[in-house]
Amino acid sequence: MCKPAYYAVEYAINPWMDTSTPVDTALACAQWNTLAAVYTELGHEVLHIEPEPGLPDMVYAANGAFAVDGIAYGARFRYPERSPEADSHEKWYRAATWTVIKPEHTNEGEGDFTYLPGRELILAGWGFRTDARAHAEAADVFGHPVVSLKLVDPRYYHLDTALAPLDDDRIAYYPDAFAPGSRLLLERLFPDAVIADADDAAAFGLNFVSDGANVVVNAEAVGMQRKLSGAGYEPVPVDLSELKKGGGSVKCCTAELRR
Ligand code: ARG
Repeated sequence: MCKPAYYAVEYAINPWMDTSTPVDTALACAQWNTLAAVYTELGHEVLHIEPEPGLPDMVYAANGAFAVDGIAYGARFRYPERSPEADSHEKWYRAATWTVIKPEHTNEGEGDFTYLPGRELILAGWGFRTDARAHAEAADVFGHPVVSLKLVDPRYYHLDTALAPLDDDRIAYYPDAFAPGSRLLLERLFPDAVIADADDAAAFGLNFVSDGANVVVNAEAVGMQRKLSGAGYEPVPVDLSELKKGGGSVKCCTAELRR
């Protein structure tokens, strides 16, 4: 995780960002501290990457790499405003003794990649940020099959705003964020998925982190919390309203380290 010490909305690269909306950096830090404390209380170790001035989006640490089996596949950002973040993450992973693979193709790390260990399957998004060629690159880096999913709604520009794993085998997603063929693919692969609606997605209810039992989720997503309880999971709400102004929530702020 990366403390939002320099967080701001200084440019707009997704529909949630509005440079005329004031951002309360101190409040963002307080909300972020709560998120980190929740992970610790749930028994998960939290590691930190140092925030850097001039990189207001660095708080969305999920975008810095995609890490599975001790390998960190590095990011290559779509927009120049975020490009320098890739080097900072690369240095962090190297120092933490991960095998780092520098990407050839544009990809925004865990923003567009996720992993289901029970199926040894990578799910990957494209359409707004990550280049679909990065999906093939990731398949080659990790030796796991990659399911390519096309995103079609600019508000759900990263896969992790529209889909998230609940446990080793099961996912939740918002069908309308995906192209028809990708929707069909998801229906076939995940007939038991928890299906989110437009309100759940707009409340960033899919941008959650699940440990298979507890699901840390944006507090605003009350409908999604009901669905998660109904499906047998324990929702753990955290208010990240300030970080939503940059177009992210729980998952965006969290890079999962799969050694
Ligand atoms: N402002 C950031 C961007 O547009 C938000 C990134 C959110 N991160 C995520 N994993 N979805 O790039």
